[in-house]
Amino acid sequence: MKTDNSSDRKIVVEQRKRFSESCLWRMQREYFDQEGINAWVNQVPFYITSNPYIATCYAQLVMRFIRDTIKNNPDAKNHPFYILELGTGSGRFSYYVLKTLLELRQTLGMEDIAICYVMSDFTKNNIQYYETHPALMPYVEQGVLDFAIYDLEAERPITLLKKNIRLGPDTLVNPLTVFANYIFDTVSHDSFTVHEGKLYELLMTISTPESNMRDNKAVEMEKLTIDYNVHEVKGSYYSDPHLDAILEEYKNTFKDTSFLFPIGSIHAIKLMKKLSNNKLFIIASDKGYSAIESLDHLGHPSLSFHGSFSMMVNFHALGKYFKNSGGDFFLQTPRKGIKTSVFCSNIQLKDMPETSQGMQQYVEGFSPADYFTLHRRMSDSFQECNLETIAAHMNFTGWDPHIYAKLANRVTSLVPDADNDTVNFMASNMHKMAANYYYMPKSDCILFEIAVFFHSTKRHADALKYYKLAQPYVGEQFGLFYNMALCEHHTENNADALESFKHAIKIDPQSKETEEWIVYLEKQLAEKSQAQE
Ligand SMILES: C[S@@+](CC[C@H](N)C(=O)[O-])C[C@H]1O[C@@H](n2cnc3c(N)ncnc32)[C@H](O)[C@@H]1O
Repeated sequence: MKTDNSSDRKIVVEQRKRFSESCLWRMQREYFDQEGINAWVNQVPFYITSNPYIATCYAQLVMRFIRDTIKNNPDAKNHPFYILELGTGSGRFSYYVLKTLLELRQTLGMEDIAICYVMSDFTKNNIQYYETHPALMPYVEQGVLDFAIYDLEAERPITLLKKNIRLGPDTLVNPLTVFANYIFDTVSHDSFTVHEGKLYELLMTISTPESNMRDNKAVEMEKLTIDYNVHEVKGSYYSDPHLDAILEEYKNTFKDTSFLFPIGSIHAIKLMKKLSNNKLFIIASDKGYSAIESLDHLGHPSLSFHGSFSMMVNFHALGKYFKNSGGDFFLQTPRKGIKTSVFCSNIQLKDMPETSQGMQQYVEGFSPADYFTLHRRMSDSFQECNLETIAAHMNFTGWDPHIYAKLANRVTSLVPDADNDTVNFMASNMHKMAANYYYMPKSDCILFEIAVFFHSTKRHADALKYYKLAQPYVGEQFGLFYNMALCEHHTENNADALESFKHAIKIDPQSKETEEWIVYLEKQLAEKSQAQE
């Protein structure tokens, strides 16, 4: 490390480094390791890849892929289909996709097909969260869910923690399905520039104020400054003809641009190819470029910080890599938002008709990106929507608790004047939203919100059921016990109502209303018992 002599006391952290070897990736991993599940509490954006709609798209593609595989090779049904999720994060997507997969498997009469879903992440802090999550535990008990520590930047065995099975050519008889959401943008890239027909690697010099250094290491990523130096690439850069061919094509095609090369992801893909007898089916969603035209005329790469940092993924290069090495790919046509892509190794999509139809519908057709764009527009106008529109939107989201939490107050304010059909429609779908509840720290408890909905529609028995279900999540909350007491009273259970009001007043001894209820109910119960004597 060197200190420069300028007056702003900037420290040069590293000089002229290949991007994939930069300290940035270590800092990125440290961030996720330290934060664990808290990374998703108002820091790293994740709704776009963690909602029921994207999960439905993936589940539909996978079931079609399984059906095509069995049609092409009937013996496939005698072996499990493994699905490995990389850089799993919060686990909300995993829960939705596995739930939908199992529902589809049942609807299609395919219960005899064994599925093993593996949630992986490099940090054990995340794995520990999944292992004890109430929504996931039943799937572990059924043997359809497992966990694995897997760092894409390290070539190490992948062992399933519950089944104690190591993924490898013996276990992976069927093609390995891989889900990669917001992870190819998180692991290492190289960077290059093309100018006047020549290819240069972009080497990074990173500096930061001295106050951002601890133990000779930079601490906050946001305080780093990146400068680039160029160095002409002559001959083979990667010593891999499949990869070098892509660089050569870019050198000959681009007029003037800088681009990233997802080398960390490619290393991981090479390992997964090895483990799976070179049979991979990957679905990935990320920010990125899918058309070669969108890669020309770009400036040097910029990092976007949001707790961690992320880059635009060069999906075009990934597609080319699969094609060059005997595989296939499908990239959705460019549009704003995330890109969903499909890659296959040693499989040609023309031989997979159901999968191809699914890609037309769920990747090129109404894609996860389209869903997000529409959802965001709707979110901006919830306060102007009537209950019919809100109900239709909830149906569109697949009864997504994350959305309902944002509009629950609007719903309860509209209920008194709403028509019966709409209220009944919402009421009859509330169980779907409850089934979509995936607990995350510091987030709203949707079971409580469902209870409030039923309470506001005077369906006291249903409200009581959901208040009770909410109790382990919301804990000792005055409102919970007070509302439970009201529902118990309305369902003619005054003895329980009295207990609940007494519980509520312990939490808030100042509550006059609760005191009055206790006096009233004690009197009622005493009169009733006298009448019975
Ligand atoms: C941006 S988050 C994406 C999480 C999730 N897939 C989503 O879409 O919300 C990146 C995730 O990858 C994990 N991660 C970071 N570096 C990794 C690596 N080298 N190998 C495996 N996982 C990694 C982080 O712990 C985090 O869970």
